[in-house]
Amino acid sequence: MAEQYIVVVAGVIASLLGFVFLYYNSLVRFWGLTKLKRRSALELPKENSEAVGTTDIIIVGAGVAGAALAYSLGKDGRQVLVIERNLNAPNRIAGESLLPGGYLKLIELGLQDCVDEIDAQRILGYILYKDGKNILVSFPLEKFQPHVAGRNFHNDHFVQKLRKKAASLHNVNLEQGTATSLLEENGIVKGVHYKNKSGQMLTAYAPLTIVCDGCFSNLRRSLCYPKVDTPSYTVGVILTNCKLPNENYGALILADPSPILFYPISSTEIRCLVNIPSEIVPSVSNGEMAHFLKTLVAPKVLPELYNSFIFAIEKKDNIRTMPNKIMAAAPHPTPGAILIGDAFNMRHGITGGGMTVALSDVVILRDLLRPLHDLSDASAICKYLESFYTLRKPMSSTINILANVLQKVFSASSNPAMENLQQTFLGYLRLGGVFSYGISAMFSGLCPRPLSLAFHFFSIAIYGVGRLLLPFPSPKRLWDGDKLLWVSIFVETMVSM
Ligand SMILES: Cc1cc2nc3c(=O)[nH]c(=O)nc-3n(C[C@H](O)[C@H](O)[C@H](O)COP(=O)(O)OP(=O)(O)OC[C@H]3O[C@@H](n4cnc5c(N)ncnc54)[C@H](O)[C@@H]3O)c2cc1C
Ligand SMILES: *[C@@H]1O[C@H](CO)[C@@H](O)[C@H](O)[C@H]1NC(C)=O
Repeated sequence: MAEQYIVVVAGVIASLLGFVFLYYNSLVRFWGLTKLKRRSALELPKENSEAVGTTDIIIVGAGVAGAALAYSLGKDGRQVLVIERNLNAPNRIAGESLLPGGYLKLIELGLQDCVDEIDAQRILGYILYKDGKNILVSFPLEKFQPHVAGRNFHNDHFVQKLRKKAASLHNVNLEQGTATSLLEENGIVKGVHYKNKSGQMLTAYAPLTIVCDGCFSNLRRSLCYPKVDTPSYTVGVILTNCKLPNENYGALILADPSPILFYPISSTEIRCLVNIPSEIVPSVSNGEMAHFLKTLVAPKVLPELYNSFIFAIEKKDNIRTMPNKIMAAAPHPTPGAILIGDAFNMRHGITGGGMTVALSDVVILRDLLRPLHDLSDASAICKYLESFYTLRKPMSSTINILANVLQKVFSASSNPAMENLQQTFLGYLRLGGVFSYGISAMFSGLCPRPLSLAFHFFSIAIYGVGRLLLPFPSPKRLWDGDKLLWVSIFVETMVSM
């Protein structure tokens, strides 16, 4: 009873804060949209003076963002040249889980068939495990058609499908080559220098170059302020001959020292990802990693997966690692070029939101470019495209902030305050109803609203204070400061994104 009361009070306070946010947000949006309209009227569109056959747009990198964008711009009639370093299937442990919100973006782009025929698995939510107890968190999919759900797959199968679809358009030219630098004249990007498959240095020219060369980008330097943080590494292995407790749900085990994630990536394989803080990452090559996984992680794995897990880490060359990079979106608007995808903005991989943000950005950029016939006035286009940064905020901020907060909350530490924080979060999810629904709506990319995120974070903080006061309030319990930690993590993350 008392707990519910606290939650109601939390709701009221959060609503008040919410109103302030809403007011602020709508002002920002309104400002962004009027700016857009005004610019459209003044500077666009002009008649097409480009000769047919010349390149309108160069795309560097045909990963998820680049390939989806190439298809979308090609569909809109642009002459697109895509330069991709390696057209063979990439072998990665990242980008295997597409959230329902990302699937909706695929539909908007006409690319939903790229998850067909790759043995993709439907995902309906996650089960969180902690100390032998579990909580089922479902994506809120009730109001959508039955095919809308998360999709898990091998990243390379998906990317190859996207590339194939882009290359099927006669006006999209997908070329294997490595971009080495941007060609800049008087502060305007005119194209790129690249090395083609036979090692020849070539230059491609276009009025607009879109750089999406991924998390290890070497072209982003002049297009943004690349302040990258690497709080942890993800270690991945593939398990076979085993089944998850619920096949349509991923499983997240909140264990010490590392959260462990399992989800199916085909009808016969389960991906296991272990998140390890950067300070303690063991070396794979000298066998320390296998030892770490065997001694510290294996005992925390679900019993039905144990044998397959041990088999997977003992298999030769099966252990893969990848840095978890975090980079706030901090563009340096440059005429003639724009940056998207991981090259531009990265959040922690733990919530699997990267492809959803990238695809959402592709939709926004495609829609902004659609009414422009002539791209030759680089400075005007650059100014016009500044609204991209406003329009992308709802989706990118919601997913980024949630990912970065949850990676802190989910990494157990010997710090009792952090442990308490984790329990508060799980308790909040256990309340069910609007509480867990709200979190999963944002987590799944179906509710791109930072305001809603703020609402829930404040009510979690207040719920946490309530938990502390029960059953008997005491000043010591109130002042142990843990809840302030929650607020400070939230605020710190919010400010940094
Ligand atoms: C451990 C981990 C797990 C993750 N899990 C998920 C998940 O489950 N779900 C999810 O949605 N997201 C996940 N992500 C994030 C996701 O992988 C990325 O957000 C997504 O792949 C970004 O797409 P992109 O097109 O920007 O980059 P990429 O997909 O990395 O594509 C970049 C492309 O550019 C090419 N390239 C690079 N340099 C050059 C050059 N100089 N010239 C030409 N081509 C070049 C590369 O070959 C590549 O094809 C995870 C990330 C990490 C680190
Ligand atoms: C690379 O460029 C050179 C010079 O234009 C050309 O002769 C060669 O065929 C190209 N190689 C490939 C693989 O396209």
